[in-house]
Amino acid sequence: MEQRDSEEIVRKYYNTRQHIEAYRNTGLIVCEQQIFDMFLRPTDRVLDIGCFVGRVSFALAKRCGFVLGVDIAEDGIMQAREKKRAEGFENCDFQIASAQELPADDGSFDVTLLAYNSLECMPGKKQRESALAECFRVLKPGGHAVLSVHNRWHSRYLRVLAVYDTVRLIYRLHHRLGSMLLRQLQKHWTFLHPDMLTHERHTIFEQMAGSVAVWPVYFYSRSEIKRQLRSMGFRDIRIFQIDAQDPYTQQGRSAAVRSRPRPSFFVPGYYIVATK
Ligand SMILES: C[S@@+](CC[C@H](N)C(=O)[O-])C[C@H]1O[C@@H](n2cnc3c(N)ncnc32)[C@H](O)[C@@H]1O
Repeated sequence: MEQRDSEEIVRKYYNTRQHIEAYRNTGLIVCEQQIFDMFLRPTDRVLDIGCFVGRVSFALAKRCGFVLGVDIAEDGIMQAREKKRAEGFENCDFQIASAQELPADDGSFDVTLLAYNSLECMPGKKQRESALAECFRVLKPGGHAVLSVHNRWHSRYLRVLAVYDTVRLIYRLHHRLGSMLLRQLQKHWTFLHPDMLTHERHTIFEQMAGSVAVWPVYFYSRSEIKRQLRSMGFRDIRIFQIDAQDPYTQQGRSAAVRSRPRPSFFVPGYYIVATK
């Protein structure tokens, strides 16, 4: 898929009243506060990539030197600019820009942020890698890239993704057999959508499986994101397990960095801090 096409899918998905309302009315998650307390300094210049309506940008503008928020979803940026004006923020700015071409000079930021799985919303390995390479480029030496990802090996996601991937594999080997299997499975699992046979997994939006949604996202494993960050030149990669991933839920809002680590199977996601 061309970068332009996949950006269009992402834009269409986020430029909706429903998403804007949901993000506008959601504050920082506990684990974000914990990570920011550990790594942010009052003078830091922060680049919030995939900032959307500025959920995190405004919280950081209150405690850092300067925040630039960028996103490809224009409606999100408009909303952020409106809030900036209405509330009189002077140390933040918002631009429509893609993570693959950040509007920033080399070595000009102390922190880059890809909050609430923004990296995983970028369809295609090349795009995710180029976003990380851009983070590395714009960071000052010693600066931090802060990001969150799901955990591919969490039991809930594994179950749904296993069904998706098995049906897709069978379809690839034998179209008719795959379609038949899908029709049978749909009788029990209404979240299965015919598009799943022909579209990439991350283009299948919000098919609900009980309480589990398959989002338009890529799911990283801990080792994969670590490997990718290392290959970009990052060092000292610290990975924090978190309790939950969805900030809309009560459980998600109070999601904290775990002090007692658990086996991967029970960890829904990670916050990661990598140093340039
Ligand atoms: C899950 S939302 C997170 C929003 C925000 N970071 C937060 O924590 O509230 C993902 C955001 O990433 C943005 N995004 C996805 N791909 C992008 C890209 N290639 N460049 C810039 N932003 C992108 C989407 O438009 C969306 O606003």
